[in-house]
Parts: sequence; structure tokens; C-alpha cells
Amino acid sequence: MLDNVIIAPSVLSADFGRLAEELDDVATADWIHYDVMDGHFVPNLSFGLSILKTVKKNTSLPVDVHLMITNPDEMVDAWLDAGADVLCFHQEAATHCHRIISRIHERGAKAAMALNPGTSPYVLDSIISELDMVLVMSVNPGYGGQAFIESSLEKIRAVRALAEARGVHPLIEVDGGIGAGNADLVCDAGADVLVVGSSVFGADDRAQAIADIRASGNRGKVKRS
Ligand code: DX5
Ligand code: ZN
Repeated sequence: MLDNVIIAPSVLSADFGRLAEELDDVATADWIHYDVMDGHFVPNLSFGLSILKTVKKNTSLPVDVHLMITNPDEMVDAWLDAGADVLCFHQEAATHCHRIISRIHERGAKAAMALNPGTSPYVLDSIISELDMVLVMSVNPGYGGQAFIESSLEKIRAVRALAEARGVHPLIEVDGGIGAGNADLVCDAGADVLVVGSSVFGADDRAQAIADIRASGNRGKVKRS
């Protein structure tokens, strides 16, 4: 477990008409989270490869690409070519999880696998030791601004316990419905990386919002340790 929480604002909630300024506004965060939606795996469309290149040109932070697409197996190289630093695919959408992770590592990036709220944490059993990060979805993917699903806390604890039982230390990222009001609970349960969309981009003072979420998350980490 990391000592300090990683804050990853999701550009899905940004104003795309002024993307460069929006990225400047969240420069005090640690990562940028980039949500890719294909209209098949999730009932919404977002952005593709060319906008990722624009994001990369306008931030110095690592970019965490969250693929909510069917057949992620077919697009690993394209997303790495476009600049993904962390590449996350959904377990429910992948055909060959192990092969995807190996390819991401061969290309020098970090590999993450996401689980929907309805997916058991125990699907991680034979793959967790290969992963740099597990993404626990705390909303059903497809939209920003949804309410945090409370049972996600139990799933975060289960993922942490599974990792400990295997003697491995993947980061645990949690995505959906997180703000300063619950970041402490999420980190107390075992999260290292918090994806934050509307709670940051919906705030007038983004730096303050990030600082508040960071303080709350770090309180949870201290409580846990
Ligand atoms: C949901 C996306 C999230 C979303 C989070 O499908 O994966 O990353 O942008 O937004 P908030 O923080 O508003 O729930
Ligand atoms: Zn996401």
C-alpha cells in the first residue's frame, strides 16, 4: 500500500472546449484519468485516440487510460502508441487477460484490470500477481456524476485481502462517485488511487477540491495503517 493517495481527475467531466486550460487547472493532481467509451461495452461514447494525444501534449502528469470497450485485446498497441502510461481494460470485455497484460508490459507501460460492480473480486485469483493495478468500479461504468455504490467498500477490502494472501502489491484504484466526503472511507478500505470526475471539475476551485479529497484520502490511509 502506498503512503499517500494518488488523485486522478477524470477528463470526462472537463469542458472539452477548453481542454488545455482544464488540464492546467488540475495540475496539482497526480495522474490524469482518461475514460474511453465505445457505445457497446457501455451505453455512451466519449473520446478516442487523437484526443489522448492532445491530452498528452497538454499535461506532464501520467495518463491513466480506462478502456470501457469491447475487444480491448485488439487495441492495446494503438492506445500505447497514443501515449497511455497506465492502460486499464475490463475483465468482462477481454478475451485473453494474460496476453493483454504481457503486451502492455513488453511495451513498458503499467497494466491494470477493471471489475464492474457486479463482478466478483475472486476473478482476480489467477491473474492478480501479473497486475500493476486493480480498478474497482464503484459505479456502473458509462457516465460521470453517479452515486457511489456502498458495497464497493467490501469489494476493495476483498481485493486487498486477495493481494495480501498472494504476497503481491498491486495498486487499488477506485472509480465513481468519489469526493472529499467519502475518500477517507475508500482509502480506509484499501484504495491507493482515487478517480475523481464531477467532484473536481464541478468545483469552482479545482486545486482546493483536489487538496480536500487528498486530505480526506490520506486520513483514511493513516487510519488503515
Ligand atoms: C465512469 C467513469 C468514471 C467517471 C467518474 O464510467 O469510468 O471515471 O468519469 O466520474 P465521477 O467521479 O463524477 O463519478
Ligand atoms: Zn474511469
